[in-house]
Amino acid sequence: MSSSTIESILQEKRTFPPSPEFSQNAKISSMEAYQQLYDRAAADPESFWEELAETELHWFQKWDTVLDWQPPVAQWFVGGKLNISYNCLDRHLTTWRKNKAALIWEGEPGDSRTLTYAQLHREVCQMANVLKQLGAQKGDRVGIYMPMIPEAAIAMLACARIGAVHSVVFGGFSADALRQRLQDGEVKLVITADGGWRKDNIVHLKDEVDKALVEGVPTVTNVLVVKRTGQDIHMEAGRDVWWHELQPTVSADCPAEPMDSEDLLFILYTSGSTGKPKGVVHTTGGYNLYTHVTTQWTFDLKDTDVYWCTADVGWITGHSYIVYGPLSNGATSLMYEGAPRPSNPGCFWDVVEKYGVTIFYTAPTAIRAFMKAGDQLPKARDLSSLRLLGTVGEPINPEAWMWYHQVIGGERCPIVDTWWQTETGGFMITPLPGATPTKPGSATRPFPGIIAEVVDLDGNPVGVNEGGYLTIKYPWPSMMRTVYGDFDRFRRSYWEHIPPKDGQYFYFAGDGARQDEDGYFWVMGRVDDVISVAGHRLGTMEIESALVSHPAVAEAAVVGKPDELKGEEVVAFVSLEGEYTPSEELAKELKKHVVEEIGAIARPGEIRFSDDLPKTRSGKIMRRLLRNLAAGEEITGDTSTLQDRSVLDKLRGGA
Ligand code: WT7
Repeated sequence: MSSSTIESILQEKRTFPPSPEFSQNAKISSMEAYQQLYDRAAADPESFWEELAETELHWFQKWDTVLDWQPPVAQWFVGGKLNISYNCLDRHLTTWRKNKAALIWEGEPGDSRTLTYAQLHREVCQMANVLKQLGAQKGDRVGIYMPMIPEAAIAMLACARIGAVHSVVFGGFSADALRQRLQDGEVKLVITADGGWRKDNIVHLKDEVDKALVEGVPTVTNVLVVKRTGQDIHMEAGRDVWWHELQPTVSADCPAEPMDSEDLLFILYTSGSTGKPKGVVHTTGGYNLYTHVTTQWTFDLKDTDVYWCTADVGWITGHSYIVYGPLSNGATSLMYEGAPRPSNPGCFWDVVEKYGVTIFYTAPTAIRAFMKAGDQLPKARDLSSLRLLGTVGEPINPEAWMWYHQVIGGERCPIVDTWWQTETGGFMITPLPGATPTKPGSATRPFPGIIAEVVDLDGNPVGVNEGGYLTIKYPWPSMMRTVYGDFDRFRRSYWEHIPPKDGQYFYFAGDGARQDEDGYFWVMGRVDDVISVAGHRLGTMEIESALVSHPAVAEAAVVGKPDELKGEEVVAFVSLEGEYTPSEELAKELKKHVVEEIGAIARPGEIRFSDDLPKTRSGKIMRRLLRNLAAGEEITGDTSTLQDRSVLDKLRGGA
C-alpha cells in the first residue's frame, strides 16, 4: 500500500443479476454481448463511434476525421455538420412519432401539460424566431434561469436551433451566483420566468434576475420572460419582454442552423471546491452522439417507455438525460416541477402512478429522504409500471440501494448506478440493465468505448481491491472541451494531477475508487475528502455506508479532524430516523457498529447528531464545511452553492 493510494475497507458481496424476462427483452441482453461491444470499442474506438454516428444521428454534412486528439484537446467528427435540435425534433416528424408525447410535464400545484413532438417542434421554432428578433446570433451566449417547466427545455432547444450557446443557471441559485455566471459567459440575452413552484412556495426568479442585472452585466440587452406563476413583477421598459406576447407574432418555421460538430452547444458551471465556478464547455456532435447512445443502452429505452429523470435542467443530468438524450431518441420524457414537499411527501409516487412511469432516475440523497419519509408512502401507490431504476450524483450506500430495490422496484427492476460528471457529459461507468449483474454500491463496468483505470499518483495501475485515483485513458465523444475562457485552468484541473507518462494522458476529475475481482468499479468519494488515520487513507463513502446500515441512522457524513497522534480522527455527522433521539448510548452504539462493520481503524472518535447536513443545491454533502466545523475553525471558502444556510448555524450551535 503506497501513500498515494486509498485503502478500501468495506466489502459488499451481494449480487443481483437481471431477471431472464428483463434480459430477453433488452437491447443488450448478456454480459457476453456487453463484453463484445466493449472489446470492439476498446480495439478501435474511432470506428465504433463512427458507425454509431452514421446510424444514430442525422448529419447535414459528413465529417472528414472521426477524432483529432492533441492531448488534452479532442475534436470529434471534424468537418461534420449537424444540429442537435434537428436530431431531437425534426427527424421524428417524418415518422409515427410526430404525434407521440415528447414531454409530459407535471406542475407542482397539480397542473399539467403534454407536448407531442410536433407541438414541441412548433414552440421551439417560435422561441428561436423570438431570440433572433431580439438579436441573438450564432455563437452568442444566452442565459437560461428557469423553473422546471416545458419552456426551460424549449429555450435550450431554441438556442441550439439557431446556434446560440446556452448557459443554464439552476433556478435555486441566488442573484449573486447568477450574476457571476452571466458575467463570466458574457451573456447577451436571459430567458427566465416570473417565478416557479418549489416545495409549496413560489421562487422569485425574475426578481433575482433584476438583482443580478442591477449591478450590471453590461452585455445583457434583453430579458425574455415566461409567465408561470402570474405574480407581480417588474418589467424594465426596453429590456424585458413577455414570451406570451411575442410568441403569437412570430413564424413557427425556423430551419435548424447547420452547426460544425465542434461548435459550442452549451456552457454549464460547476463549482470547484474553491475559487470561482468553472464554465464547462460542451460541443455539438460528440455530445449529441454520446448522450443519445448512453440514453438508449443504459436505460434500455423502448418506444413505450415513460421515462422520468427527477433532476433539474440546471444540472448536467437535466441537460443530458431529461432533454437531449431522451429527445434525440424520440422518447417520452417526463418533467416535474418542484420537489417532494411538506404538503405531499408522497407526490413523486403519485406522479409514477398517474403517468405509468416505467423508468425512474434519481439521486441517492433523494432515495435516503424517501426512506426516511417511510415505506407507507410508496406502498400506498401503484408502482407496478416501473421496470427500471437509476441513480446518480454520489456513491449510493448499500442500505439505500436495497431499499430502492425492494420498496420502489418491488425486487423486479434492475438498478443502473451511473457514475459520471458534468465534465464527462454522459455516463462513464454504468450497468447495462439487461446484461450486467449489479452489486449494491457499485457503478459496475465502463460503458463501451470508455477506458477507465484506477491508478496511483504516478499513473501506475493499483492492485485488485486497492483504492486509488479514477482516471479515463482515452477520449470519448462528450468529454468537456475546455473551461470557458480559461484553457489553462482546464489543463491544470483535469490533466495534471496524474502527470502524462510515455504519451499516455490521464483524465482525472477528483474521485477515488477501487476495482474488485470482477472488474467492477466502486467509487469511494472525492479524494479531497479522504481521511488519513494513522497512515491509513480512508474514503468517506465506506464509513458512511456502515453508519447508514444502522437502523437509527438516516444519513451520515464523515470527515477528518486533525489529531496529534493519528494524523486525523474520524468525526461523523449523523441525522437520525424519526423515531430515534440523540444520546450518549446511541453514539457509543454507532461507534461500535462501525467497528463491527469495517474495523477499528474506521472507529469515529466523535459522533455529532444533527437534524440536517449541509448540502449543495444538487444534494451533495459539503464535507469541506463539516471539516471546518469538526476542527472548530471558521468556515472558509465559497458557500454560495449551499442549499440551506441555517443548517450551518444549527451545527455550529452544537446540535
Ligand atoms: C461527481 C460529479 C453526473 C451528474 C450529477 C453530478 C459524484 C456522480 C456518481 C455515482 C459515485 C458519483 C462523483 C463525481 N458521482 N455519480 N453513480 N457513484 N459517485 O454531476 O455535479 O458534476 O458531480 O458526482 O464524485 O465526480 P457533478
